[in-house]
Amino acid sequence: MPAASARKPVIAGNWKMFKTVAETAKFFQVFRPLVEDLTHAEIVIAPSFLSLPAAVEGATGSQIQIAAQNLHWESEGAFTGEVSAPMMKAAGARAVIIGHSERRQFFHETDETVNLRVKAALKSGLTPIVCIGETLDQREAEQTKAVLLQQFDGGLASLTEKDFSRIIVAYEPVWAIGTGRTATPEIAAETHICIRDKAQQRFGKKLAGQLRILYGGSVKPANIQGLMEKPDIDGALVGGASLEAASMAAIVRYQA
Ligand code: PGA
Repeated sequence: MPAASARKPVIAGNWKMFKTVAETAKFFQVFRPLVEDLTHAEIVIAPSFLSLPAAVEGATGSQIQIAAQNLHWESEGAFTGEVSAPMMKAAGARAVIIGHSERRQFFHETDETVNLRVKAALKSGLTPIVCIGETLDQREAEQTKAVLLQQFDGGLASLTEKDFSRIIVAYEPVWAIGTGRTATPEIAAETHICIRDKAQQRFGKKLAGQLRILYGGSVKPANIQGLMEKPDIDGALVGGASLEAASMAAIVRYQA
């Protein structure tokens, strides 16, 4: 397995349903100078669909990559309210978050639809950031491993090795999202190792060693360092703390 340092960390901000177009432009004016000199990590910001063009414009000429938060798996068609991979790609997105627990909980996404979305993203040349994670009840019932493996297998069903080499996985325990209750670095690392073991069984040692697994759930400037010290944690998917430029920059700068 390659050394952990062979995997470039990714710090991604998921803005969820926050920020107008004007607020997006303002964020980039403040954020860019704070991270301009950094090369140790890839930086990703995922605004709402409406703010994608403003974010792409705000990030032009920087190393910041823009992602969408969801996609429909068809390229086009009669699907009122949906946005397709070719549309977001044309708008300048490079990646897309797929299967976030809020999508699963509130919009009934399943491993099957996650799988369709992953394939559509790959087909359009977008990097899928595929979210998996257990609820508190599942963790307390000691079902964490089974739940994650099922989401991994279902969401990534019938992917080729080449497909798999292009995805990023985000482990987001549902009980840690927006609750202020972060998984300890030990709990997160233990779970990341379990996901990487699963990846190794399915896709072999080399690809599993290259897979970037992000942790998400109440990541803040105060806890990022401890998480990133764990060799199997390759970055973070940050919700609330990504909305403010200074706090997102502090997270990106965890080792600077
Ligand atoms: P949080 O959200 O950092 O606000 O907990 C993380 C996420 O949902 O991606």
